[in-house]
Amino acid sequence: MSLTQRLTEYIAACFTGLWIQSHEHDDALAEIAQMCRDQNWRLAVWDVERGLQIPNHSNGQPSDAGGNDPLAAIRSINALASADSSAILVLVNFHRFLQSAETVQALAQQIGSGKQSRAFVVILSPVITVPVELEKLMVIVEHDLPGREQLAQIARSIATEDGELPEGDALETVLDAAAGLTRYEAEGAFSLSLVRHSAIRPEAVWELKQGMLKKSGLLQLHRGGERFADLGGLDALKDFCLQAMRRQGHRDPRKRPRGALLLGIPGSGKSAYSKALGTETGRPTLIMDVGALMGSLVGSTEANIRQALRIADAMAPSILMIDEVEKALSGAASSGTNDSGVSARLFGTFLTWLNDHESEVFTICTCNDISKLPPEFSRAERFDGIFFLDLPSVRQKRAIWKLYLDMFELDPQQPKPVDAQWTGAEVKSCCRLAALLGVPLTEAAKNVVPVAMTAAESVARLRNWASGRCLNADAPGGIYTANPGSSVVVKPGRKVRRDAANN
Ligand SMILES: Nc1ncnc2c1ncn2[C@@H]1O[C@H](COP(=O)(O)OP(=O)(O)OP(=O)(O)O)[C@@H](O)[C@H]1O
Ligand SMILES: [Mg+2]
Repeated sequence: MSLTQRLTEYIAACFTGLWIQSHEHDDALAEIAQMCRDQNWRLAVWDVERGLQIPNHSNGQPSDAGGNDPLAAIRSINALASADSSAILVLVNFHRFLQSAETVQALAQQIGSGKQSRAFVVILSPVITVPVELEKLMVIVEHDLPGREQLAQIARSIATEDGELPEGDALETVLDAAAGLTRYEAEGAFSLSLVRHSAIRPEAVWELKQGMLKKSGLLQLHRGGERFADLGGLDALKDFCLQAMRRQGHRDPRKRPRGALLLGIPGSGKSAYSKALGTETGRPTLIMDVGALMGSLVGSTEANIRQALRIADAMAPSILMIDEVEKALSGAASSGTNDSGVSARLFGTFLTWLNDHESEVFTICTCNDISKLPPEFSRAERFDGIFFLDLPSVRQKRAIWKLYLDMFELDPQQPKPVDAQWTGAEVKSCCRLAALLGVPLTEAAKNVVPVAMTAAESVARLRNWASGRCLNADAPGGIYTANPGSSVVVKPGRKVRRDAANN
């Protein structure tokens, strides 16, 4: 639903206090002005630089009603409304003025009395910081990022010469690349592309977009060339995600894939897999840095995460990757005592989105320690599958050795070190060291200390937890069960048996 449609509904229902969160004030103002013309409502716009402006109905020119006193502007709005016309006062960037008790009181009074006079107050701001006094009086409306059709319109309005606007699939690729940009940013990206290539091409759009996401510090666009073929084994996981995303042509929201939670020991390929998934499915991969989202300013955290999720929605179909999610969200359980509830609220916002969002965003979270995650996180229906990435099986390890012997151009016939406890990362590191130092693999192996040794207890605990609860990432169609031959149950004071623990 467009901003105008939503505003029209709220105004018809006599919500006299509205807060529009928008990063594109000019655009939002243009939409509001159009709505007022269509409905024959009177419009006044106030900002600190220009004061109160009343665009004149008859000739379309704004008339300056003078005065940049915010209180006077609020008080003047009732007079503007009449029996046959509602009046709308838009206060631009007004979040800056809400520290004043007088202003907040004047707004509260106006929102109350506006119901009789049909005078509406609209705050236009890039953030949502409604003072408590106004919380129950205002509704929040988000100004959505432009949709595909709007982006296409922007492209058409900029590329006016022959050959500048691509067609068919090429146009679709450009629109895919531009998804998630604001109107202003899209205009900039398309113009840059015209200057560089005399045509609108996706490369310039990607470049700008990457910079944009970096600037906001919320999301990072991953543009790597990793492929599934670079990962040995993990067949079940590879098939599962590809199937889940391929099946969605019908766009039935009930069948919308949600994502996967990858639990596994360090170095088992969780991050590597998540990064390759985008290339395999042709979707952009957005990496959400929850640490940065938590920010230094406690108050802005929720707004940050909502903004990040909106960008992810707007970039759909996309993949949203949250690496080491337990580190980011582990505060949720204890939240309230040490961070005034910020992580709990952040977590709540994210969980709600995970359940409710209707966009084609496939979320992939990786995690090393499930015990640090609040239990709601892993319950059924939040993710399509919770996969466990164990130490690689013999078959999987053979594939991994082959990959890295090839990559580092090592002699495949040479004897291999004892690798029973090794992860993929350790095989890789052994091969790299052998190539680097020019020594045989068995020699290089002396420098590899497997995590299954150094962190034996936590690895055993993880396997224990995963047993019967998670899907096996390597073996198709199976629930993971800890190998009965390995003693994975850790009892206090008992030594963990390390033999036969992984095959
Ligand atoms: N099955 C595998 N095949 C090929 N390479 C692998 C495999 N598993 C891990 N690796 C390699 O090991 C390195 C570390 O993997 P990655 O960073 O994905 O581990 P991780 O599971 O995310 O670990 P952590 O939990 O510590 O973040 C990567 O370079 C990756 O390519
Ligand atoms: Mg990782």
